[in-house]
Amino acid sequence: MRAMRVCVVGVNHSTTPIAIRERLAISVNQLPEALLSLQEHISQGILLSTCNRTEVYSMDQATGSGQNAAVDFLSTRAKISDAELRPYLYVHRDEAAVRHLFCVASGLDSMVVGEHEILGQVRHALEEAEKTRRIDPPLLNLFRHALRVGRRVRQETGIGRHALSVSSVAVDLATRVVGDLANCQILVVGAGEAGSQVAKAARKKGASQIIVTSRSQERASALARALGGTSVALSDLGEALRTADIVISCTGAPHTILNRRLIEEAMSARPQRPLVVIDIALPRDVEPGVRQMENVHLFDMDDLTQISQLHQQRRRGEIQRAMQIVDAEVAKCLAWWQTLEVEPTVSALVRKAEAIRQAQLDMTLKKLRGLSNEERESLEAMTRAIVKKILHDPIRCLKENGHSNEIYARVVKELFQLDREAPR
Ligand SMILES: NC(=O)c1ccc[n+]([C@@H]2O[C@H](COP(=O)([O-])OP(=O)(O)OC[C@H]3O[C@@H](n4cnc5c(N)ncnc54)[C@H](OP(=O)(O)O)[C@@H]3O)[C@@H](O)[C@H]2O)c1
Repeated sequence: MRAMRVCVVGVNHSTTPIAIRERLAISVNQLPEALLSLQEHISQGILLSTCNRTEVYSMDQATGSGQNAAVDFLSTRAKISDAELRPYLYVHRDEAAVRHLFCVASGLDSMVVGEHEILGQVRHALEEAEKTRRIDPPLLNLFRHALRVGRRVRQETGIGRHALSVSSVAVDLATRVVGDLANCQILVVGAGEAGSQVAKAARKKGASQIIVTSRSQERASALARALGGTSVALSDLGEALRTADIVISCTGAPHTILNRRLIEEAMSARPQRPLVVIDIALPRDVEPGVRQMENVHLFDMDDLTQISQLHQQRRRGEIQRAMQIVDAEVAKCLAWWQTLEVEPTVSALVRKAEAIRQAQLDMTLKKLRGLSNEERESLEAMTRAIVKKILHDPIRCLKENGHSNEIYARVVKELFQLDREAPR
């Protein structure tokens, strides 16, 4: 049986604290450069990095080589020693790696089970890897298969119902803390994909006072306008903090946006009025020390886990149905993988049969002079059909014999003398 040699090494929200995850986070903009540096460690690797996971998928050249190279890459990137990082990493190989990827693409491994964003992120990881032109078809096909599985799970189960996302769960958390959003001033920091989702979810939950701030003022204004809110320049963040009840921060900045000093200054103007700060950025936007401040309630991605577990319980039935689909697709994938081993034999068989057909047809056509084009095309089509029909069952048999296909391949090679050229 052909060993798959697929390996995934990674961290996610359930294995690794945010302080480590944020050091491994790779933003969309950083992905091409990160793939280049991955290639210094490993010849074939695909990087999947989302707000809650960073994973390296690879094909082992020798047992364990992909794993070691991936650990090297991750520890270099995070500037953490191998020994320090290893306890946080999960490693899955072959069938377990395939199952993991299919679960990830289906949203089953997400913090917010069934979230939609992950499918786009898996697609992006594949597209960026394809651009490197360094990845062999088996690994690329595995990702394509994962995308099909993700779509199938969403079509055939209710796992993605209600369009939940990390952003909507953050707004959910804010609602739980303050009770009602209607009379609260909500400050959204960051007007990208996540900021837009946060603002929309807040509006849906009844928020009427939404203020958006972002590095690009235009983007902030556009989002605020679309939701009937207002925007402020990022340089006026301190001012905006003085009147906000809830801040949800989600920029792509590699550094802190809301530090303790900024929040202390804002709180000094409203010491008795509580401020809820929800940081869903990775790397984090808010300095962790803010948690110790009086009347400031800071929540980060790890704090969202509890709410997401609640969603998970509500979706238990759908998760089971989704897992059945994943299991069936894993079995299909393994069967396909086995066919890779017989592919060279199948190609050689088809080549030899085609060479014989062509040679025999040429001889016949030489004897049958004066045929019309139509008659020649009919002969061509008929001989092709004969060869195709004769080879259909042997090829199917070769591909479908799982564990024994190595033996079948040897027998076919011997029977058809595939190492020798076709007689002319
Ligand atoms: N997308 C999601 O589903 C999702 C879910 C949960 C959490 N998150 C987290 O949310 C954050 C943003 O993700 P996204 O998908 O919204 O990214 P995005 O669409 O690329 O938007 C990033 C936002 O951050 C701003 N930004 C980038 N670099 C900055 C810097 N150095 N200083 C200040 N602002 C900066 C951008 O401003 P410009 O407009 O000027 O570029 C933009 O408003 C990430 O940390 C991500 O992990 C994302």
